[in-house]
Amino acid sequence: MHERVAELVAELTREEKRRLVRGAVDPDGVATGYVPGVERLGIPPFSLVDGPLGVRADDGGRATAFPASLALAATFDPDLAREQGAAMAREARAHGQDALLAPGTNLLRVPHCGRNFEYFSEDPELASRLTAGVVEGVESEDVVATVKHYVANNQERNRTGVSAEVDERTLRELYLRPFRAAVDAGVGSVMTAYNRVNGTHMSDHGYLVGDVLKDEWGFEGYVVSDWYGLETTVGAANAGLDLEMPGVASFDPEETDADVDGDDFGAGDLDGLPDPTKADMFGEPLADAVDRGEVPERRLDDMVGRVLGQMHRIGLLDGDQPDGALDTTEHRELAERIAARGTVLLKNESVGGGDDGGADAARDDPVLPIDDEASVALVGPNVHEPKLGGGGSSETTPFHSVSPREGVEARAEGTVTVVRGHSEIEDESLFDRLAFVEEVDESDTEAGTGPEDEDTTVDDAVAAAEAADVAVVVVRDATSEGRDKDDLRLPDEQDALVEAVAAANSRTVVVVNSGGPVEIPWLDDVAAVLAAWYPGQADGDAVASVLYGDRDPAGRLPTTFAPEDEYPATDERQYPGVDDEAHYEEGVFVGYRHFDARGAEPTFPFGHGLSYAAFEYGDADVVADERKHRVRVAVENTAARPGREVVQAYVRPPEVDGVDRPVRELAGFAAVSVDAGATETVELDLDEHAFARYDAEEGWTTDPGSYRVEVGRSSRDVQATVEVER
Ligand code: NOJ
Repeated sequence: MHERVAELVAELTREEKRRLVRGAVDPDGVATGYVPGVERLGIPPFSLVDGPLGVRADDGGRATAFPASLALAATFDPDLAREQGAAMAREARAHGQDALLAPGTNLLRVPHCGRNFEYFSEDPELASRLTAGVVEGVESEDVVATVKHYVANNQERNRTGVSAEVDERTLRELYLRPFRAAVDAGVGSVMTAYNRVNGTHMSDHGYLVGDVLKDEWGFEGYVVSDWYGLETTVGAANAGLDLEMPGVASFDPEETDADVDGDDFGAGDLDGLPDPTKADMFGEPLADAVDRGEVPERRLDDMVGRVLGQMHRIGLLDGDQPDGALDTTEHRELAERIAARGTVLLKNESVGGGDDGGADAARDDPVLPIDDEASVALVGPNVHEPKLGGGGSSETTPFHSVSPREGVEARAEGTVTVVRGHSEIEDESLFDRLAFVEEVDESDTEAGTGPEDEDTTVDDAVAAAEAADVAVVVVRDATSEGRDKDDLRLPDEQDALVEAVAAANSRTVVVVNSGGPVEIPWLDDVAAVLAAWYPGQADGDAVASVLYGDRDPAGRLPTTFAPEDEYPATDERQYPGVDDEAHYEEGVFVGYRHFDARGAEPTFPFGHGLSYAAFEYGDADVVADERKHRVRVAVENTAARPGREVVQAYVRPPEVDGVDRPVRELAGFAAVSVDAGATETVELDLDEHAFARYDAEEGWTTDPGSYRVEVGRSSRDVQATVEVER
């Protein structure tokens, strides 16, 4: 404990200590969580705010709506994560907030999870590096980062009731790794998950919170509960939980018709939401527990010291805070750059012959980028509004946003005919679902909608597509915290809309806005597909810049795309679980580890993404020192245009009797911009994780033998290999 903090702790009364470990109501109504200070000792209040896609101020205050975390992950670029983290922290600061409730870093175990858009990847290496980037960025601006939700919060369905039944090896090799990376990056706070792990609620988890996070990893910050996610007083305090949030019930149970003790908060429409009357567990009950000797006084001091320690670290105890910055040109530009860079070009084919009536000559070229002068039919139920994000605590209200329609119309030089072709797909807002307990002002959360009931028939879309050189169809899903997807189809009749447009124009491009993988049954019928995730406020500008080739689509898939029934964990026992237990029986074989082990061909593999440029790889070599193996490879851009390549290194371990390891695992990656005709030498540092596996008895173990490092463009597109002896 820092000397200054220790002195303060020594001066605090029991009552004052209690005030520092339990949330209270923010008198300004801005914070998501609020710790009142102790005026007598000059300890100021401490304010925590959501979330991972930008600041969600509770007073409706606006902020830059950044691309969803999954879009950020698709950039494979930790430097961009650092920039986004720093920008979000400056905005938190401008709203007077001290801690940001971000990043979220649970792995994408099942494609149905309603919060996959808030997370980074199905792969722990990618998730770890992006997590570390965001954490470093946030904390560089003297704001506390909060990595969440620790741990195995991989589904929203029954999230407050389910126990993730998961073995130690799987926890260590997959789910714990991004949290460890956050700790190594200096994260100030860890938020516990709502779920249980192996039967114990995460807020009470002495092993995972106390032993692993604090003792083994040396985490020195504070552990905060998820909102209303505290299970017990004594169990949590002794397990290592430091701060209860929000600490106060969000409404008076006496004054609502909702069945707060019954189904409304555990099942049915509000499945997955915590009981918002569950609060004040670290208030008086904690003081009483200390009096009774059930929680040692020194534990209470440690809790207080950890909270004060972070306040001290960011300069709050000295009143030494930067002003922050909100909605600056730099933040707008960053939101646009990340959205474009995270856009994945899944498919891009030329359409020979061409009897579509179009005038552009270059029929042998792929459909994208679109010629500046081409006439475009822009189709889609929601082309009039940007896709900001999914529903829930990450909902951010921007100052400024650009719809696909505005973006394409501003960029195109040919005619643009805009037709919806389908009724609007409604966003899911968690706050709408909570409206029955609270008065919710929705006027600020609407992003702006298109004209009602106009041009919404497929025939309108087909007519426009027939008359245009190129048809661009923008489709979307709708996901939310607190609810999983029922299936991976696009909602309503959007697949039929794509089919109809594709039948009318062979030069059809589909832009998919989704919070994770979706099924694309029309893949063979369209010329090009872009996965643009939830791009945030810069949606239209970003997609137009990629469609017209102003920016190279630099994104690569952070998650495998496949038909729903080919994913792992399809058995009910695994997901959503039976009797409140989800059995992680697939072990470490999640995402591409599963598809590789089965030899199954996904629709698009992990790491896939095309470029408008063309890259040739030289031979790879490797040099080792005591800490790492450095893999080097030269990448030449043979195209006449600049491009951005993501060089990926996967390690294939040797066969070891009795050990079932993934075929290959991502061990390193780097995103590089390469000028036309230029060659860049890319260096990838592989640490010990690259070769080791977790053995229940021995811990991290590297089996002796020959490891093959595959360097390439995706998990299935190997361009060079090199052997490493261990
Ligand atoms: C619950 C969510 O799980 C968490 O991510 C969020 O930060 C809190 N609510 C506060 O809104």
